[in-house]
Amino acid sequence: MTVRPATVADLDAIMALERASFPTDAWSDAMMREELTSRHAWYVVDEEAGRLVGYGGIRAAKGSTDADIQTIAIAEGARGRGRGRALLTTLLAEAARRGVREVFLEVRADNPVAQALYASEGFIELGRRPRYYQPDGVDALVMRLDLRGWAARPGAGLAATDAHDAARDQENRPNQDESGRNRPDFAHSPEPATPAAAADAGACT
Ligand SMILES: CC(C)(COP(=O)(O)OP(=O)(O)OC[C@H]1O[C@@H](n2cnc3c(N)ncnc32)[C@H](O)[C@@H]1OP(=O)(O)O)[C@@H](O)C(=O)NCCC(=O)NCCS
Repeated sequence: MTVRPATVADLDAIMALERASFPTDAWSDAMMREELTSRHAWYVVDEEAGRLVGYGGIRAAKGSTDADIQTIAIAEGARGRGRGRALLTTLLAEAARRGVREVFLEVRADNPVAQALYASEGFIELGRRPRYYQPDGVDALVMRLDLRGWAARPGAGLAATDAHDAARDQENRPNQDESGRNRPDFAHSPEPATPAAAADAGACT
């Protein structure tokens, strides 16, 4: 299992997994590219023998104490072996490192596996958004995690070492991507306006 920061070069492999994992409400390539290049988001991928078997992302505006888990997915054949948890704890550890205190997410009401994963890391259900996921008309459960409590648990955050070091390297050259090209500046990108745009902009499907 190799967890590393994602780059735009991972877009096609991520999108193949996105469409397989979210058959009715997959994100578009344009949305995933925006996420992968946004300075407000941090994405990681999980590779096995050079093949991408998972990805996940978190969004936290610079300086904000709130963050949102945007998405997590593991290839069907690679599930049930701790990879989903490894991606989730890597994202949470990075958020803690950036000073985030609370993490939120939406999860489909008909996704007990993902709910169990989140609850097992301390996420608590805050409420529901009726018929949030379209076109299926499925409710969203809104969940929250007290990240400082999570980070204070023994063993929390260890998972982030490699990805964390790579992120720190990225911090040292904020305006360049991994191959040294200048990164587009999204510092002032407007937040999504409507619930639909919010869903399109990345509620965990
Ligand atoms: C949700 C998902 C990421 C979990 O990844 P995974 O690698 O299978 O999960 P892990 O092996 O790390 O398991 C972590 C926890 O998830 C829960 N879980 C995983 N598989 C489960 C199953 N078949 N039944 C019930 N709970 C399950 C358990 O709480 C498990 O903890 P445990 O192993 O200590 O019991 C994966 O199922 C997936 O990609 N699903 C499709 C996309 C998706 O729904 N993403 C989430 C969007 S909000």
